[in-house]
Amino acid sequence: MLTRVLKTDRHNPSKKVLQEAAEVLKSGGLVAFPTETVYGLGADSFNEDAVLKIFKAKKRPPDNPVIVHISEMDMLKEVSTTIPKRVKKMIEDLWPGPLTIVVPRSKKVPASVSAGLDTVAVRMPAHNVALGLIKHLGSPIAAPSANLSGRPSPTNARDVYEDLNGAIEMIIDAGDTFIGVESTVVHVTENKSVILRPGPIPIETLRNYLNDIELHPSILTGKFEGTPASPGMKYRHYAPKAEMVVVEGTYDRVLEKIVETVHDYLKAGLKVGCIVSEETAVKLPSQTLIEVLAPRNRLDLIARRLFSALRNLDRRNPDIIVAEGFPEEGIGMAIQNRLRKAAGYRILKV
Ligand code: TXA
Ligand code: MG
Repeated sequence: MLTRVLKTDRHNPSKKVLQEAAEVLKSGGLVAFPTETVYGLGADSFNEDAVLKIFKAKKRPPDNPVIVHISEMDMLKEVSTTIPKRVKKMIEDLWPGPLTIVVPRSKKVPASVSAGLDTVAVRMPAHNVALGLIKHLGSPIAAPSANLSGRPSPTNARDVYEDLNGAIEMIIDAGDTFIGVESTVVHVTENKSVILRPGPIPIETLRNYLNDIELHPSILTGKFEGTPASPGMKYRHYAPKAEMVVVEGTYDRVLEKIVETVHDYLKAGLKVGCIVSEETAVKLPSQTLIEVLAPRNRLDLIARRLFSALRNLDRRNPDIIVAEGFPEEGIGMAIQNRLRKAAGYRILKV
């Protein structure tokens, strides 16, 4: 299959491009498109055959459900049967934005979208290309991140192309995404609310709407017991080819430990890769393969660079990767979650 790449402006997308892409979706094809978080791989969510193609193209396990993207509140009623009251105020304030809610699924949404669960994950993305595409299609778009299963999510069209060239009809290239890590996923019922995946909307903000909100325990440990609440939890994510370790603790000690560990690995003759802040990068020996994220206090920029840094490092083929841990406040919780997953929860606490 020939994968067409159409370029457009992220703020003012061309109607012609959106029209062409919507035609592909209408005829049951797949289109990768940018959202404010990462690029998504879209299909018409009401077309089951098209949705099944997503799983095939990504090599995604069929028991891992995908997110349905909407462009207006009315679409929420099409995809879900009931919305808990306390969710309404929250989404009025936070949508469009990087927040996904898990709610009861309506019959109109094919079971394969939700991997057979009776719930559906929904969000309204804050990106004019994504919103415009949904509007041109006239239906919600089912879309997981547009990477091969297990790889870091793509934050630009080149990364989508690297994973999915030849497997999908079209990629809309509107440059880098704004945020860089995937949306926060929350499951809310009348009497319980749980964060299934930490993301750009931090727990601190969600507490204003859901005072009982908790982190799912597996987010901290990487382990889950019984049936995972969110099937995505149990899969290895973002895994670079090389083994990776995250060094966590207060910064002085983290810096010391990273420098020490890197020297040890270099002495052992290994090719060492590092994913670190600017402050740390300048302290590392010149033989190190360094991916610089941003200054340590700019968690927003660190989130934006994180996945492309992981992909870049992978291209440079290190034997071992040492990553710097960051404070778990605000979007830092999402950064830490992705780093730990990429490292298979190999954490060095200092
Ligand atoms: O920012 C994002 O959320 C991006 C962009 C493209 O919107 N999408 C994304 O999709 O990250 P994906 O499929 O890579 O991640 C969806 C997550 C998975 O962890 C999945 O298990 C969970 O949401 N999920 C989806 N439907 C669910 C459901 N009904 N119940 C529980 N978890 C669900
Ligand atoms: Mg994904």
